[in-house]
Amino acid sequence: MGDVFCSYYTKNSNITSYMVSMISPNQDDHILEPCGGDGIFIDALLNYYPDLHIDTCDLDKTAVQAMQSKYSVLKNVSIRQTDTLTDALFDFYSGMGFYDKIIGNPPYGGWQEYDRRAELKQKYKGFYVKETYSLFLLRCVSLLKENGVLSFIIPDTFLYLHNHKQLRKFLLENTIIKEIVIFPSKFFPGVSFRYSNLCIITVQKEELGSDKNGNSISVIKGLKSDEELAKLSTGMRDDVVTKRLLQKDIFNNQDFAFFIGDENTNHSIVTSECRLADLADCVTGIYTGDNKKFLAIECGNQREVSGYPSISEDDIEYSHQSIQPIEFPRKYIPIVKGSSSTSYFRTADKWLIEWTPSAIKHYTNDKKARFQNSNYYFRSGVAVPMVKSSKIKATIMSGNVFDQSVVGVFPKDDKHLLYLLAFLNSSIANEYIHIINPTANNSANYLKKLPIYIPTESELQDIDDWVTAILESRSSNQYQQWIDSFFEGRLKNKLCKIHAWQQKVPSTAH
Ligand SMILES: C[S@@+](CC[C@H](N)C(=O)[O-])C[C@H]1O[C@@H](n2cnc3c(N)ncnc32)[C@H](O)[C@@H]1O
Repeated sequence: MGDVFCSYYTKNSNITSYMVSMISPNQDDHILEPCGGDGIFIDALLNYYPDLHIDTCDLDKTAVQAMQSKYSVLKNVSIRQTDTLTDALFDFYSGMGFYDKIIGNPPYGGWQEYDRRAELKQKYKGFYVKETYSLFLLRCVSLLKENGVLSFIIPDTFLYLHNHKQLRKFLLENTIIKEIVIFPSKFFPGVSFRYSNLCIITVQKEELGSDKNGNSISVIKGLKSDEELAKLSTGMRDDVVTKRLLQKDIFNNQDFAFFIGDENTNHSIVTSECRLADLADCVTGIYTGDNKKFLAIECGNQREVSGYPSISEDDIEYSHQSIQPIEFPRKYIPIVKGSSSTSYFRTADKWLIEWTPSAIKHYTNDKKARFQNSNYYFRSGVAVPMVKSSKIKATIMSGNVFDQSVVGVFPKDDKHLLYLLAFLNSSIANEYIHIINPTANNSANYLKKLPIYIPTESELQDIDDWVTAILESRSSNQYQQWIDSFFEGRLKNKLCKIHAWQQKVPSTAH
């Protein structure tokens, strides 16, 4: 269930037993559950040792009352109604470290009032405060004693997103990260968000020791069901693929980002000398401020899009190429928007945007509208949909406005246009994009980091020929394989594959 307290309760005993095994309670440990809910972790802990000394709290009065009645006979469980993030006693404890173990499922995904954000911003200076789960992690590490252990189940976005860079730095500097298990949110009853996976992270506080540098973090991804989590807790790990990442390598990565691919892919992401940002500008497009009012669909399009008017050709100016408005009586121009069902070129959903003097006045003056990066409108480039799919479908844009649901990739040198289109549709770019940022959005800042290869003139000619053939035949069949092999050979397994590629891939005649 989701509500104002963002409480997705942990109803899954495979998850709780794995997490309890990771903190491995001792009989005399003092343990904190920082957001108790209905006490599912407390039950699992008491199952382990009935006398464990457990403190818990929750902001929600009903949850606190329910726990008070449930544990009323137990002297070893103490319950408070408080805000874990701002509680004065916790402020005091965090100065010195207090708990041996901490376990929990902090709130996530909820809207925070502006006043609350301001309060948290003041208290947690330099950290991202819009997502409470990350502040819970920060707060609770500070509540651990030296060598104390914490295990949390939270979204995995903090591993990759720029907003969480300070949190990653904090964790890498102040803890030994023992294990991270990443799995789909559907393992968790009642929760299924599309924007990210969930993870269970277990860390040991280690402010003073120097072990962190040598620490190898075990990362487990690709579990098929939550039962496999339970197997992990019983030590049955033979069937599970565990990656090992050196903590010091992550510390040295740009923005302290975690790249959880195979060794070779990680290596090229980290060490590449050339990135997409060196060959292209990556920018986001216009937001009208009120799409239902200013966007429309071309009449005769393959499907109707509810809430948007259908516009006949007479009202559309197809060849307009400037940010100046179009002349009466025409009202609309084409705009590139959203995802595409095909790679390289778009076939359906012909979106239009009103481009009259009054509409442009609105885009430039309205508070919600964003007439951003307008110097890129109408230039030739590649559109990459902002919302990720398992296979990214990049399409050519020639002389269009584009909206904020795509990232426009514009070559610094026009000769690279088709090369960038091929690269962004290649299997390796797809793999990189999903490793650099596995969450649901492809924002410009992550695309910029993609490793890329600068082609020789003759390689550029080959790729141009293949992409031209795809665009002309409206089919990518055989050429896609060649494009994939080309970029694989150039970017991955460099030494062994270049020669293999040269033998396998025929050059087009030119
Ligand atoms: C995701 S639920 C988890 C509950 C329980 N630990 C479980 O796993 O089933 C998060 C809990 O945090 C509580 N909560 C939300 N914000 C809080 C805050 N700032 N301080 C303390 N508790 C909070 C909610 O009321 C909710 O019970």
